[in-house]
Amino acid sequence: MTWLVTGANGQVGHALVQAAPSEVIGLDRAALDITDAEAVRRAIAARAPDAVINAAAYTAVDRAEAEPEIAFAVNRDGAANLADACAAVGIPLLHISTDYVFDGTKAAPYTEDDAPNPLGVYGQSKWEGEEAIRDRFDQHIILRTAWVFGAHGTNFVQTILRLAREREALRIVADQHGHPTPAAAIAEALLHIARGVCAQQGQWGTYHFAGQPPTTWHGFAKAIVAEARAHEPLAVQTLEPIDTTAYPTPALRPLSTLLDTTRISEAFGLTMPDWREELRRIVVEG
Ligand SMILES: NC(=O)c1ccc[n+]([C@@H]2O[C@H](COP(=O)([O-])OP(=O)(O)OC[C@H]3O[C@@H](n4cnc5c(N)ncnc54)[C@H](OP(=O)(O)O)[C@@H]3O)[C@@H](O)[C@H]2O)c1
Repeated sequence: MTWLVTGANGQVGHALVQAAPSEVIGLDRAALDITDAEAVRRAIAARAPDAVINAAAYTAVDRAEAEPEIAFAVNRDGAANLADACAAVGIPLLHISTDYVFDGTKAAPYTEDDAPNPLGVYGQSKWEGEEAIRDRFDQHIILRTAWVFGAHGTNFVQTILRLAREREALRIVADQHGHPTPAAAIAEALLHIARGVCAQQGQWGTYHFAGQPPTTWHGFAKAIVAEARAHEPLAVQTLEPIDTTAYPTPALRPLSTLLDTTRISEAFGLTMPDWREELRRIVVEG
């Protein structure tokens, strides 16, 4: 079986290519721009994959507030282009979405049936991308995940490692709760689901997939620093916990986006990854 992966140079796209190089046809943005509907159709026709996995996205949460037209072109219209092209040739589309479709005010973990209410352009564009896929055809999987990190690309782990080497004191937001989730684990889950749904059909829909245990950005930063300090000397001495209000950003962020992952575990027999294991691997291996 072959899977065509868009956004192959992103965190999850790269992890998909690494996880299954013989099954994955990875196309980065230069090879396939998902905002170009005709190019999307041509790429799928030429490669004839068994399914498409969309790992391409506009993920700059703050910058999206200043350039909403680009965020919507990629996250909503790009998703629609892929759904149209997959529907036309009758193959499934696996798509990744985000906990930022929620407003973060729910006291309990969000289920897939909870109503979205994005706080910013990024979350809104991702929500409209989900809806564009649902409107077009049933043969889709939408995997909502959170706080993605890995060895490849720009993410919170890489940022904290850099700052911890440079500065004695860091101030980190401690009142936003979420799930750090390894890109490699998302890739493995998508491949597992792709193999399953393509063989059996019938489990289409939206699922939550999230690393465990949930934490705050401050808790995540503490774990990163502790892990790194075991392997190298660091400049950082204090990690000051601060509230979101003390760190204003162009985009509002949801305060608590804990995700209920019961549905994906029951449907596909998946165990949620412990993000601390992947963090250790990244810090040790670089
Ligand atoms: N990062 C997170 O914390 C997070 C959290 C929750 C959900 N997600 C979702 O998880 C998925 C994967 O995220 P990620 O962290 O792997 O993102 P990423 O590292 O930013 O990768 C996204 C990739 O998409 C590419 N891309 C952008 N516009 C494109 C276009 N028009 N056509 C084709 N490719 C395009 C980017 O290319 P360039 O490098 O050239 O820009 C980049 O390689 C996304 O759907 C994202 O919304 C991410």
